Amino acid sequence: MSDGTHAIVFDAYGTLFDVHSVVDRCNQLYPGRGIELSHLWRSKQLEYSWLRTLMGRYENFETLTRDALHYACRLLQLQLSENDALGLLQEYRTLAPHPEVRASLRALRPAQLAILSNGTASMLQAAVEHAGLSGLFEQIISVDDLKLFKPHPRVYQLAVERLGVAKHNVVFVSSNFWDVAGATSFGFKTFWINRSGMQADELGIEPAGVLRTLDELPAGL
Ligand code: LAC
Repeated sequence: MSDGTHAIVFDAYGTLFDVHSVVDRCNQLYPGRGIELSHLWRSKQLEYSWLRTLMGRYENFETLTRDALHYACRLLQLQLSENDALGLLQEYRTLAPHPEVRASLRALRPAQLAILSNGTASMLQAAVEHAGLSGLFEQIISVDDLKLFKPHPRVYQLAVERLGVAKHNVVFVSSNFWDVAGATSFGFKTFWINRSGMQADELGIEPAGVLRTLDELPAGL
């Protein structure tokens, strides 16, 4: 490794795993409504993570993913049976990785790689195994141990403590701009993976780099 980088830390959902790979299953249950449901489900899931952190009323990511699904189905007037809910939540444990993820991580592998995610340890382990990414990460760090969600600075500090590296030696990679903003503000060197040409938020915070896909991460980080 050059440039003093001692660890490359990845966000999970959206960055490594395609959260919208649930669309097919959603479309099977609610023909033609899959994209709408998937987007509302994801945005509510994130909103609940921020609200619960602000209110000091933590529930784990599995619980808020379930609550967000129920909310989204009610708002869109889609009937959700107990079985349908279980099936859709199971999809979260078997999300597809973005196509370039496996090869990109393998190429970066001489560096210490880790995940820092809002997901629970059990959700993350299942998704990593299903995506064929087992063995690539030295650590899979869940916010569940802190009971706070990103972008609380204490979460990024958890990665520093677990990895035993100074924060200026951490490269953090996320496709979620709000997460990149939190990590940059904390003091990590950040790369925003902007696969779908999203607009950066007006937070007065800029990542070190903006990339289309993970395989554009500079070699020799
Ligand atoms: C995560 C979500 C927020 O993996 O993308 O932390």
